Amino acid sequence: MVRTFALVALGLVALALLILYILVLLFSHNPRNPFESELYFITTEKDGSRSKPLPLPVANSPSDGTIELSVVIPCYNETSRLKLMFDDSINYLKETLQDRFEILIVDDGSKDSTDSYALDLAHNTYKLKPGQLRVIKFEKNRGKGGAVIHGLQHIRGEYGIFADADGASSFKDMSKLLAKVKHVENENENKAPAIAIGSRAHMVNTDAVVKRSFIRNFLMYGLHMLVYVFGIRQIKDTQCGFKLFNKSSIALIFPYMHTEGWIFDVEILIIALRKGISVSEVPISWHEVDGSKMDLARDSMNMAIDLVVTRMAYILGIYKDSVVTKTKVE
Ligand SMILES: *[C@@H]1O[C@H](CO)[C@@H](O)[C@H](O)[C@H]1NC(C)=O
Ligand SMILES: *[C@@H]1O[C@H](CO)[C@@H](O)[C@H](O)[C@H]1NC(C)=O
Repeated sequence: MVRTFALVALGLVALALLILYILVLLFSHNPRNPFESELYFITTEKDGSRSKPLPLPVANSPSDGTIELSVVIPCYNETSRLKLMFDDSINYLKETLQDRFEILIVDDGSKDSTDSYALDLAHNTYKLKPGQLRVIKFEKNRGKGGAVIHGLQHIRGEYGIFADADGASSFKDMSKLLAKVKHVENENENKAPAIAIGSRAHMVNTDAVVKRSFIRNFLMYGLHMLVYVFGIRQIKDTQCGFKLFNKSSIALIFPYMHTEGWIFDVEILIIALRKGISVSEVPISWHEVDGSKMDLARDSMNMAIDLVVTRMAYILGIYKDSVVTKTKVE
């Protein structure tokens, strides 16, 4: 009697595990390969005309040292917000780094000519040199995560940062992130790979957060709880769109990414923590900007599912951070 009972219980557990495995497998992601055209960029010539498509650096190839910082900006329909972000970032980059920066616009299949808008701004308004602002145009939409994953692997800089096109963070804080990563590098004699991420955790009780609608805050806290439960406890703000990477940490993380949707930030941190890469949280200033592309109800649901799936997929061995996720070009 007891034996039968134990056998049935064991059978049920095995069945539950199998169902869990199949569910996670069904919901797991496998990023698409880049199209051939996505390995090229367009920039402006001296006279403001468009360049022909020029090849990007090979993925994760070493920096030749001429560019210190590459700024990757994932864009989807950003013509109404990009100018503000550029005003904040490009002037500051010129001031602090002179010519030693580049901007990589990854246009995730925009329908409002964000790509040519960015190129015109670069030449007419900010007088950037040919090649200083590069546009990669996706043939098919991949999601914000997909744009960041692709962009960061094709930078020329020694450091890469990704920043939201909405200008919600103040670009001056970039220096804090850069200083932090350099500090960690120098602390370790063998030059450890390092990441510094913007954090809004110090702002939880300030106007910027309190003024948001109840439902937004409610969903945000719910998501934070889930992130906490699913294992990123040492980092308070995982979702801030302002993260800076040492080149070697890019090569250790981004070829192994799976998640291309909103929750890709969390997978970056999961891989970083699994690989023992130093992650420093740096408090930054930040303000809410209108025009978010998030559909609160639908996207929160998808984020919650992706979050659980990502963590479970690593536990079940469906996701691996030792096997390059995709290598072929379509
Ligand atoms: C993007 O812009 C195009 C053209 O302006 C518009 O038709 C489309 O609905 C926009 N998509 C989103 C998600 O805003
Ligand atoms: C980043 O880390 C690597 C080693 O992991 C180190 O050699 C390099 O100097 C660091 N800094 C830059 C700018 O890549």
